[in-house]
Amino acid sequence: MKLDGRICVITGGASGIGLEIAKTFAAAGGRVAIADIDLDAAKKAANSLGDGHMGVDMDVTDPDAVQRGIDKVIKDCGRLDVLVSNAGIQIVKRVEEFSYQEWRKVVSIHLDGAFLTSKAVLPQMYKQRSGTILYMGSVHSQEASALKAPYVSAKHALMGLARTIAKEGGEKGVRTNVISNRPETSASPKRRSSTG
Ligand SMILES: NC(=O)c1ccc[n+]([C@@H]2O[C@H](COP(=O)([O-])OP(=O)(O)OC[C@H]3O[C@@H](n4cnc5c(N)ncnc54)[C@H](O)[C@@H]3O)[C@@H](O)[C@H]2O)c1
Repeated sequence: MKLDGRICVITGGASGIGLEIAKTFAAAGGRVAIADIDLDAAKKAANSLGDGHMGVDMDVTDPDAVQRGIDKVIKDCGRLDVLVSNAGIQIVKRVEEFSYQEWRKVVSIHLDGAFLTSKAVLPQMYKQRSGTILYMGSVHSQEASALKAPYVSAKHALMGLARTIAKEGGEKGVRTNVISNRPETSASPKRRSSTG
């Protein structure tokens, strides 16, 4: 993969999978903006990638913060080529035990965050007539597990958002993909993760 100076925003990129994507993109020649609710960690992660990368303050559930963060990247870099909508959390309990606030929190970070960041980057990508949006899905974009109702619901919904933007944006040079392992290849009963 060669990114040759392409401007890449990665939400939730201060740790975990997002940080690994950031390292991979930077190694491929991309210029990375790590957008995270933890600004200190985002700046530290960006510095660890080398020169030219940046940390951006962004709570993906806050429309103003998302717009501000994306505007800053476009202003500083002059364009925006790749969005990785990756920020996420997990809360594990039975459906009837979820409070509405807990449900909203999980759905909001995964799905509202994907919508808000997409909405913010699309005008620039359409202006450039090029851009790529990657949504961090999961095996739970295609199948369910007990105890993860809002997570499974939001990860399924990302498929719908990606397909809609593919239809609206295809002719304007924007493509979308959901990163998701296939259910039949994901069986790994011993693996434990905080968010998957
Ligand atoms: N860990 C797994 O096994 C696994 C499997 C499949 C998919 N995923 C998905 O990958 C993504 C990253 O997961 P991870 O395990 O690396 O998580 P993680 O907890 O290591 O990292 C999540 C990052 O998101 C940030 N974040 C949290 N809330 C935010 C908000 N409101 N706004 C901006 N940033 C916010 C955190 O500060 C953190 O840096 C998630 O979407 C998750 O659902 C994870």
